[in-house]
Amino acid sequence: MTFAERYGPWALVTGASSGIGAEFARQLAGRGLDIVLVARRPDRLEAVSEDIRTTTGRATRIINSDLTAEGGCQRVIEESADLEVGLLVNNAGFGMSGGYHQLEPERQVQMTVLNCVAPVLLTNHYLPKLKERGRGGLIFLASLAGYQATASFATYGATKAFALMIGEALWKECREYGVNALAVSPGFTQTEFTDVANIRDAGLYRTATADSVVRASLRHLGRRPSFVHGPINKLLAFASRFLPRRAVIAITHASLRGRSNLE
Ligand SMILES: NC(=O)c1ccc[n+]([C@@H]2O[C@H](COP(=O)([O-])OP(=O)(O)OC[C@H]3O[C@@H](n4cnc5c(N)ncnc54)[C@H](OP(=O)(O)O)[C@@H]3O)[C@@H](O)[C@H]2O)c1
Repeated sequence: MTFAERYGPWALVTGASSGIGAEFARQLAGRGLDIVLVARRPDRLEAVSEDIRTTTGRATRIINSDLTAEGGCQRVIEESADLEVGLLVNNAGFGMSGGYHQLEPERQVQMTVLNCVAPVLLTNHYLPKLKERGRGGLIFLASLAGYQATASFATYGATKAFALMIGEALWKECREYGVNALAVSPGFTQTEFTDVANIRDAGLYRTATADSVVRASLRHLGRRPSFVHGPINKLLAFASRFLPRRAVIAITHASLRGRSNLE
């Protein structure tokens, strides 16, 4: 089976207006899939859509939806109801850096809804259809921050541990009926993420591009339950399994402390 036969005809990408999501949309279209683009900013979605149509000739559909709003996921489901979605990319997400006491409570709840609840609601809807077809995929954007407790990034790190765990668990469950799940864990990547997360300086860590994260993701889909992007990040994730938890928490905190605009 070709990539498009396995994961097409449509891929639905949340957070497709910028960064990693926009790159997923472009690369999946380059592999012969039509793309449903989901996010809040219509102008940005239109620009990605136009780029896809002119460079690949693939069809696109834009769905403007705030996935943290009441009925936001339902709107996506209804507006894509006539399409056969073979690949769901649960990518939309944001982070909040700083001490827990400094973070706005309501926004922390929104982040948890977007990073954890929205992927569950969308997977609830699309997975039974993929199971029925006996082919397709689910991608969850986790993070290196999900591999250990991440002080100064506490709630965000916890939401990404959630994405990592659900992605890996579904890899095992779903492969029995022909559906491939994958949890993707980038380290700092050059997108709008750091600005939104209020990170002043991602320092030496800011080395990856969205292009390379997505290329690696599409290479690993169907082959592994999860992967960490980049050799240094891989080493850090590996080390976190063997060092005492207290030490891992301290090292992570030392590397992030002072990078938030709030600190
Ligand atoms: N960049 C990194 O360093 C990094 C590292 C590890 C993991 N990740 C993960 O990668 C994923 C993509 O992030 P990115 O780096 O590409 O950041 P980004 O450039 O800020 O993109 C985030 C995307 O999420 C969408 N989004 C935000 N809030 C939304 C909402 N309420 N409803 C619907 N869509 C919403 C944004 O679109 P609108 O604003 O138009 O709605 C945008 O398309 C996230 O899950 C992030 O946690 C990123």
